[in-house]
Amino acid sequence: MTLRPASPLLAPSLLSADFTRLGEELRMIESAGAQVVHVDVMDGRFVPNITIGLPVVEGLRKATTLPLDCHLMIVEPLRYAADFVKAGADWVSIHQEADPHLHRTLAAIRQAGGKAGVVLNPGTPIETLVDLIGDFDFVLLMSVNPGFGGQSFIPRVLDKVKRLNALRAARGVPFFIQVDGGVSLKNASDLVRAGADCLVAGNAVFKAEAPGTAVASLLQEMGAGRQA
Ligand code: DX5
Ligand code: ZN
Repeated sequence: MTLRPASPLLAPSLLSADFTRLGEELRMIESAGAQVVHVDVMDGRFVPNITIGLPVVEGLRKATTLPLDCHLMIVEPLRYAADFVKAGADWVSIHQEADPHLHRTLAAIRQAGGKAGVVLNPGTPIETLVDLIGDFDFVLLMSVNPGFGGQSFIPRVLDKVKRLNALRAARGVPFFIQVDGGVSLKNASDLVRAGADCLVAGNAVFKAEAPGTAVASLLQEMGAGRQA
């Protein structure tokens, strides 16, 4: 059984994009080869920032055919998770720390037709997920404290990726591993080598001098990590 996607995926985070030109930014990342669009939804309660909501996701859906990956940094995610799928999200992830009823919310996302993911903050152990294996399609490991783009990568998350990869192999259940926060050319190949299948990158793409080239370079590094 294949436990991982055929090749690693890059998901540029629109949080670092130019919000006055979102359509152009989408076309740019798509033509540069990015396979997924990461959308950071923040409510000002779970995290100290407010960003994107359902109407914007509906707009993005009309502007791209790439999968929309909505990372919900909100309290009570069950209230909104299925609505994000209805608005056009293909993947919806919810924080372990924000939901005492993960099993129910993951089921609601899948029932609405989305891929369901669980997100772990840097301080939340992977062991909190062992009794949910099979109930999610992916795990997102935060490598910064959620809330803002442009923060520094927390190096010990690399070991967390390795341990989650080992857990996946031991259980033989396919799910993919995503990493979000401070991803750059410096750590992309190591993360993929450790077991990551999808890397989110905000500043490393949109704040680069040549964003299209940055997408291509990140994908190249990620490919190198998979071959190693
Ligand atoms: C942080 C968000 C991230 C962020 C990543 O709370 O979840 O997706 O936008 O941005 P960079 O890659 O700049 O750390
Ligand atoms: Zn995110």
